[in-house]
Amino acid sequence: MSQGGSEESARRARRNVVLTAAIAGLGGLLFGYDTGVIAGALLFIKGDFHLGSFAQGLVVAAVPIGAVFGAAYAGPAADRYGRRLMILVAAGVFILGALASAAAPGVEVLVIARIVIGIAIGLASAAAPVYISEVAPPESRGRLVSFFQLAVTIGILVAYLIGLAFDGIEGWRWMLGLGCVPALGLAFGMVRMPQSPRWLVMTGDDFAARATLAKIRVDDPDTIDREIEEIKESIDEKPGAWSELLQPVVKAALVVGVGLAILQQVTGINTVIYYAPTIVEFTGVNSSAGSILAAVGVGVINVAFTILALRLLDRAGRRTLLMIGVSGMVISLFALGAAFTGNASSTLASVVAIASLMVYVASFAISLGPIFWLLNAEIYPLGVRSKAAGVGTMANWTFNFIVSLTFLLLIEALGKSGAFWFYGAIGILTLVFCWKLVPETKGKHLEEIQAYFQARVDRRKGAATP
Ligand code: BGC
Repeated sequence: MSQGGSEESARRARRNVVLTAAIAGLGGLLFGYDTGVIAGALLFIKGDFHLGSFAQGLVVAAVPIGAVFGAAYAGPAADRYGRRLMILVAAGVFILGALASAAAPGVEVLVIARIVIGIAIGLASAAAPVYISEVAPPESRGRLVSFFQLAVTIGILVAYLIGLAFDGIEGWRWMLGLGCVPALGLAFGMVRMPQSPRWLVMTGDDFAARATLAKIRVDDPDTIDREIEEIKESIDEKPGAWSELLQPVVKAALVVGVGLAILQQVTGINTVIYYAPTIVEFTGVNSSAGSILAAVGVGVINVAFTILALRLLDRAGRRTLLMIGVSGMVISLFALGAAFTGNASSTLASVVAIASLMVYVASFAISLGPIFWLLNAEIYPLGVRSKAAGVGTMANWTFNFIVSLTFLLLIEALGKSGAFWFYGAIGILTLVFCWKLVPETKGKHLEEIQAYFQARVDRRKGAATP
């Protein structure tokens, strides 16, 4: 191929890959939208349906509980039916759930509809990153996978803005129903997107895999042959039974992945993401528009600091960002608790509370937010990667469910200050966990990461034998 022709083909391939990642990224946007939208909507739903703390918790926690099941099903189903089909199914289920929740006549239907939306989110959050990583060329895989987290934060921000737009008419049904729009985009977009070439090779359809690679790589037969060979080799390495998760080296990586999955949630991020306006109301701001506006501030900061994190992850390293970010979370959680002690004047308390919320979200966005999802995709051996990553994803949604269900009850039991100090104390444990157990993976090849976990296992064995 001529020089000009190959440049043109490389440009076209890059364009196609970015377009594919962007369309699949709509799955992340929906993840963010449908989890974040409840923040503004809850203020009106609780009034319309006369909901107490437990029932409000159920409406919020229905999505994460559905997502646990969606994520559990997505791993094996995406191997069987293909990643693209799973994302398409997720889009359909999203549309169904959004319409049903918008039309819900009572809290029971609303909770069921939100569980359905949760299933779609679980499917999308497990299948879309895998699809993106398999379509992306190796050199831009990390960045494209992290774009998924950016899409999640953009979805949350859009949900808050829609909440603000419909605040005047208390239009919670509009807020929930509009989730259909990006879901339609995902459905129509995915129909036109290619199958994952890796999945096609796995099903034995080399011919279709070649045709796909010709569109998303430099269209040169040698390059395509090489990639098909590489995919085949990596599939040969892939016996991948569930029992392999019990090998010592996989277990050592799972301790880090599942540990981070749980700590990402139990340090309380979704009390802020799902209940931001409710928390702002606690500070004495008593217009719903004012509290939703503060939530929009939270959403903007979340997006801005996620963008910063994407730039810093490969420079400052994962560990440095984790230590700085989690320290910021701990300090702001203790400040937030202090703002609710009732000693300070109420205006001062409101300002401290809102400022603490902002610092807390910024600190999460440069640390536990993107870094959990990134490490969960890069620390497991290839043979068990999708299953092990699935276990991490399920743990994340399970603890998301527990925290969102219990937040208001925790406040009733410990008081507002006590609740935030409780999350702050878990933040201190998180710091110790990151310091002692999380490896630096910046710039390392995946094999080097494996060698690190093997060395950890060997050291422990050495210490155990006298
Ligand atoms: C978490 C979500 C959270 C979001 C906030 C994600 O990394 O998994 O639970 O709502 O970040 O940006």
